[in-house]
Amino acid sequence: MCGIVGILGDIEAAPRIIDSLKRLEYRGYDSAGVATLVEGKIVRRRAEGKLRNLENSLENAPLSGTSGIGHTRWATHGAPTVSNAHPHQAGAVSVVHNGIIENYLDLRDEIVAAGAILDTETDTEVVAHLINIAMAEGMSPKEAVAHVLPRLKGAFALALLFEGEENLLIGARKGSPLAVGHGEGEMFLGSDAIALSPFTDRITYLEEGDWAVVTRSGAEIFDQDNNKVIRPESRSSVTSSLMDKGNYKHFMAKEIHEQPEVLGHTLSRYFDYSAKTARVDGAQALKFKDLSRLIVTACGTAYLAGLVAKYWFEKYARLPVEIDIASEFRYRETPVGERDTALFISQSGETADTLASLRYCKEHGAAIGAIVNVPESTIAREADMVFPTIAGPEIGVASTKAFTCQLAVLAALALQAGRERGVLSPEREHSLVAELTEVPSLALKALGLEADIERLSQPLSKANNALYLGRATNFPLALEGALKLKELSYIHAEGYAAGELKHGPIALIDENMPVFVIAPYDGIYEKTVSNMQEVAARGGNIVLITDQRGARECGNAAQNTVVLPDMSDIVAPIIYALPVQLIAYHTAVFMGTDVDQPRNLAKSVTVE
Ligand code: F6R
Repeated sequence: MCGIVGILGDIEAAPRIIDSLKRLEYRGYDSAGVATLVEGKIVRRRAEGKLRNLENSLENAPLSGTSGIGHTRWATHGAPTVSNAHPHQAGAVSVVHNGIIENYLDLRDEIVAAGAILDTETDTEVVAHLINIAMAEGMSPKEAVAHVLPRLKGAFALALLFEGEENLLIGARKGSPLAVGHGEGEMFLGSDAIALSPFTDRITYLEEGDWAVVTRSGAEIFDQDNNKVIRPESRSSVTSSLMDKGNYKHFMAKEIHEQPEVLGHTLSRYFDYSAKTARVDGAQALKFKDLSRLIVTACGTAYLAGLVAKYWFEKYARLPVEIDIASEFRYRETPVGERDTALFISQSGETADTLASLRYCKEHGAAIGAIVNVPESTIAREADMVFPTIAGPEIGVASTKAFTCQLAVLAALALQAGRERGVLSPEREHSLVAELTEVPSLALKALGLEADIERLSQPLSKANNALYLGRATNFPLALEGALKLKELSYIHAEGYAAGELKHGPIALIDENMPVFVIAPYDGIYEKTVSNMQEVAARGGNIVLITDQRGARECGNAAQNTVVLPDMSDIVAPIIYALPVQLIAYHTAVFMGTDVDQPRNLAKSVTVE
């Protein structure tokens, strides 16, 4: 994670770096810093915590200089203190870094043995020292970087500023994204096109192992073998306006409320409403017809979207799905071959474990599909076929609208697969698509329950633990409910398949344990009612999220009910996600936590 930016401009760099860092704060907000060249000397300002603190420090002590680098940090090595905040400096070199230098302990030993004094706990500082040592031995900045890069193990995007070099920045990428921005007599480096959007829309993405020597007249790019290479310039479609919350108190609230609209956009991209069919352009690249299994990999909430889709692919397309979280998948040496198709799901399109899993499958010859929300992301660029979610920028760290839009795309892919594999009759497909056309209006109705949900969230904010239960596609939603609640409110929560209750978690039930049961009235509703009775018999405090039929048939087990309209099975997981999100949101608001930027988290997890 972490966001980095570099500027060779013709006006003061520090305010522009701050503007850019505001757009990168989603990548981490433990500390921030900026360094510029003032009369050829590197001068730094750094602050602990949110970017606002760095802005305050710059207001008190402004920085001049037209060349500079900046950083917003998600701490990996070393506490989020000022001294661990980037940019780091050694002699004539200052560096900002996104990623992890895995061999930093060995490198530290070597640097200390050479007489250098290290003053941070970070892995990054060694990079500045190694380059500084190489320059002290007589190498130019470019030679020193070329000499040091092969010694760094792990993942990095780096931007380097050199004392006395007003017209030079050097950037490098391996494992973490880095883009070069082209201006008029100005040049930029940034973690992504969003960082560069205030300055330019002309972007060159560095490829794996590339490094770039940037001056105001352009960039020379080298590959990992130091061969000069040409990388294409593209036009970014990212808008430069800072996202705003509108009338909402938090981005998360705005994003929850955008769902009827963005789900409408996403569904209309992937379904032909008049023909009542799924219409996924490019789906043939996934070879659904010939597959004996589909591999699905993702992290966090995106993984849970994949878990819902497993039920859909298996039910509607009779296509077995092998799904795993990417951090496990990438290391378990799964047999993958040319006859496989692997689907990767990611809002940011930058998640390190998901990207590594994608590369693993690609190396083994599988066809690669990606569902991403950021169309210019690394995962989107490396996949054979991209299926974008049309959710718009998601700023709140907890994923909401991207999740439901991922479900919308996955529903389309499952129905497309069912048709291509000859197991979904036209009549069945028509009726499922007709049901999915109801999603935007049902989402609106779900949001209409917000006042009730806010009321029942108040007592929850006093709980220390919570349990979420569901069956079938509502089991991933139970996991999602627990994930959302813990990340936003810091209340310990667990999600379980309702049928697993008596295999262990029932021991946790007492009168202090809120239990959320996610159970539309479906073919297995009665089984879940039995599980609810088991909880009620032990004094558990149940909140049932169901539909009108479910509310009539639930007996007296639940203390509270959230009653959604009746809806079909395929629609339910998309719509039930909304009350689940609202419960976590309102609980966090009652508790006064930082809803949009919960502690310890970052929006884009670019380290493993
Ligand atoms: C939870 C959440 C995370 C992300 C996960 C994957 O609310 O947002 O669990 O879903 O970090 O991120 P992406 O989708 O960007 O790959």
